[in-house]
Amino acid sequence: MSEAQGKPTGRKVTTRSLGKMKDRGERISALTAYDFLMAELLDRAGVDVILVGDSTGMVVQGLDTTVGVTMEQMLLHAAWVSRGVERALVVGDLPFMSYQVNSDEALRNSGRMVKEAGVEAVKLEGGEKMCETIRRIVDVGIPVMGHLGLTPQSIHKFGTYQVRATEPEEADQVRRDARALSDAGVFALVIEKVPAELATEIAKDVEVPVIGIGAGPGCDGQILVTHDMLGIYTKFHPRFVRRYAELGQQMLEAFGRYVTDVKGGDFPTEDESY
Ligand code: KIV
Repeated sequence: MSEAQGKPTGRKVTTRSLGKMKDRGERISALTAYDFLMAELLDRAGVDVILVGDSTGMVVQGLDTTVGVTMEQMLLHAAWVSRGVERALVVGDLPFMSYQVNSDEALRNSGRMVKEAGVEAVKLEGGEKMCETIRRIVDVGIPVMGHLGLTPQSIHKFGTYQVRATEPEEADQVRRDARALSDAGVFALVIEKVPAELATEIAKDVEVPVIGIGAGPGCDGQILVTHDMLGIYTKFHPRFVRRYAELGQQMLEAFGRYVTDVKGGDFPTEDESY
């Protein structure tokens, strides 16, 4: 039985084993999940890291940005996902304003993610300015994943989802942020939508795994939003999203056939009745 059909095989993924994967040049696969069933499928397929992303705001909740996602919503999603996973490392995204006000709040909310929702690590966005907060969270034993480049919680500041760090000043800032976060103790970094050359350079510079999204092939691993790569979320199609399926189209056709069958009296048949 293949991994995709049966239970997940292989050793439990930990923050430590991810570091070892980087050291031996083994690429890390990561995807997002927001519920039990999707998490279970990703785990069975052998995905190394499952991120309970605040992208739920856009791909599940129908918001235009991730900004409106709340801590209580993330706790629910994270609890559902954790229940479906045996092998992968489960990382819970800290939503906008759950960690920026001060490090006490960040610590409390990180603790809730781990204690109430069962995740094994948290992710937060931001560079050098987040280092004190990161140190405090890591100090109490909660692993932190950083997120640099296009940080969607800052969309109103950026005003666009276009590629970041194309200018030398911003590229330098991203380099400094990556170094600072690595020194502050993050176990991994997500780098989103920056030039491939910059991401490659950072992946070589920092000791921790760099997981790219729209950051080229030189990263230590890749992450995509699952609903994007399945073709369920079709509002945007940035060029870094490879569509591995067109499930949105297939679902539409299935729903349409169901409607036709019900209206035409073809469903249910005798075999489908008691
Ligand atoms: O929320 C999310 O899904 C993310 C990924 C895009 C990395 O942060």
